[in-house]
Amino acid sequence: MALPSKVKIVEVGPRDGLQNEKQNVPAATKIELIARLGAAGLKAIEATSFVSPKWVPQMADNAEVMAGITRLEGVAYPVLTPNMKGLEAAIAAGATEVAVFGAASEAFSQKNINCSVIESLERFRPLVDAAEEANVKVRGYVSCVLGCPYQGEVAPQSVADVAWALLEMGCYEISLGDTIGVGTPEKTKDMIEAVAKRVPLKKLAGHFHDTYGMAIANIYAALQSGVAVFDSSVAGLGGCPYAAGASGNVASEDVVYLLNGLGIQNGIDLTALAQTGAWISEKLGRSSNSRVARALLAK
Ligand code: HMG
Ligand code: MG
Repeated sequence: MALPSKVKIVEVGPRDGLQNEKQNVPAATKIELIARLGAAGLKAIEATSFVSPKWVPQMADNAEVMAGITRLEGVAYPVLTPNMKGLEAAIAAGATEVAVFGAASEAFSQKNINCSVIESLERFRPLVDAAEEANVKVRGYVSCVLGCPYQGEVAPQSVADVAWALLEMGCYEISLGDTIGVGTPEKTKDMIEAVAKRVPLKKLAGHFHDTYGMAIANIYAALQSGVAVFDSSVAGLGGCPYAAGASGNVASEDVVYLLNGLGIQNGIDLTALAQTGAWISEKLGRSSNSRVARALLAK
């Protein structure tokens, strides 16, 4: 299959990137990060999550972040909502797009959202209906699509089942998450092929964590399979608090460099993005996890 001519990047740094951060990151820093990402050309920036502050303390300032951001025309600022309580709070905070997050693995579902896969889908259905009623778009995530930290192997068929259920209840796009970054390119292709039998390719997104350094290879494989939306974090920030050892998402700078090299349109200013990554890394007191940003900024 020919590579897509255009790719959309969903920047998840302010949420997936920061949710696992042990030090308190002030809301003002999150707000400035979101502003800088918008200025670099990102059209979708996952801003925060409306989850239990007991489970993820770093996201407890969700309403403050939403109130503080300046929304740019044509930019979406989705937020995570695991249940009705989260949806209500997100809408009250002005969210116009939310995401529900399920898993292809039973064990991970229990650890992450404290319910079974089936229960999670039952919980999401009224949420999606209520969101639709309020004119709020819903994206769906499936975690552990290439392996689970608790149960190991995950069958592509289980991924397809959950992806289909999310689509069928009304999610406009399904993001397939390699939560612990264990995937490799051929497995990625096989998984996408299984899912694409149930969910149209144009409704799929890839969400690769870079724990084993395979994310860019897996994105290339997913591009070859026809996927044209990818989630990534500036500076490779992040990790899931309920997936021990999970490192950050693939760095947005590395994805943009790959796309530029392949001649795939993406609309992002790589220099501005690398500078944003350097800025947030400095705020967190560490160096950027993006190889591309380190190389560019060393020049
Ligand atoms: P629970 O304990 O089963 O919830 O947690 P509950 O309904 O029994 O409520 C318990 C308490 O939480 C109550 O408060 C509720 O009000 C409160 P209390 O009476 O004890 O004071 N509560 C809430 N508070 C604020 N916002 C809410 C909310 N809901 C309940 N929305 C729950 C269930 C889903 C809430 C919990 O497990 C949770 O918040 N989990 C979120 C975990 C999380 O955020 N994980 C990271 C995001 S997923 C991810 O990173 C993967 C992804 O990137 C893709 C990939 O990489 O694969 C998306
Ligand atoms: Mg993730």
